[in-house]
Amino acid sequence: MAGGIRHFLQFADFDRTELEWVFERSRIIKDRFKRYQFYQPLADRTLAMVFEKASTRTRVSFEAGMYQMGGSVIHITTGDSQLGRAEPIEDTARVISRMVDIVMIRTFGQAKLERFAAHSRVPVINGLTNEYHPCQILADIFTFIEHRGPIAGRTVAWIGDANNMAYTWLQAAQGLGFRLNVSTPPGYALDASLAQDGEHLQVFADPMQAARGADLVTTDVWTSMGFEAENEVRTKAFSDWQVDAEMMQAAGRDAVFMHCLPAHRGEEVSADVIDGEQSLVWDVAENRLHVQKALMEYLLLGKSVS
Ligand code: CP
Ligand code: NVA
Repeated sequence: MAGGIRHFLQFADFDRTELEWVFERSRIIKDRFKRYQFYQPLADRTLAMVFEKASTRTRVSFEAGMYQMGGSVIHITTGDSQLGRAEPIEDTARVISRMVDIVMIRTFGQAKLERFAAHSRVPVINGLTNEYHPCQILADIFTFIEHRGPIAGRTVAWIGDANNMAYTWLQAAQGLGFRLNVSTPPGYALDASLAQDGEHLQVFADPMQAARGADLVTTDVWTSMGFEAENEVRTKAFSDWQVDAEMMQAAGRDAVFMHCLPAHRGEEVSADVIDGEQSLVWDVAENRLHVQKALMEYLLLGKSVS
């Protein structure tokens, strides 16, 4: 690993070689876990998790993962820490990072995460911001590889909001060499200054066209955390951006479906798709555990592991 502290604040922070390393370590760590093999390379290490938004999967997977690797975990939220009483994020970073070995943060703006990382003595992981959700895409891609082999050269269809998941998929497409088809409702497009049609991105007005022939079809809630005030207007605007059986049929029989969860059946995905044979959502959720164990191992120990 290159000198200095490494962070995982966005997917593009890791190059292809590092991503491939993390996926391979995820496979090994998952296999050991399934065989009840003792593997505690992070004994005596402490993870601090800072949540400024709600979570089920991210909290449980990081917390269980750190304990399984021999370490311990501290969980704080805005409401039960001085963060909620306006202590500067820089001061919080200086203090927490003198006491623990690694930090995971779920917050609103990416800039706040970056300010924390800039003042941290230890690695910082993005557990979701308004802009990105890189740990989720690690799990999505690891799951795709498990079921379908390498993702390079394949096509992923993103149907719905141009949100943190969509922008992270775009970084992954660029970093790992696959194609991303995106269809968003009018008024909810990707920011043109950040995302333009090219080798790794094609934008479609019609969601059915985006899904046609895709190897993986994926979507997310119409209203992300922090945007709840827009819920009513979004529900109307997004009504044609539902992944349903017809759309999965357009993708093809071998296509898989993913969703980061939590999902709203009958909104962004029909119940028959998320609960159907092409859906990998439960495998993806489980794989959050394994990929994040590999991620923490890499950030703390580099490649000096076996
Ligand atoms: N997918 C995901 O990050 O879920 P949580 O919000 O439950 O952590
Ligand atoms: N885009 C969603 C993902 C939740 C895991 C949100 O930010 O709320």
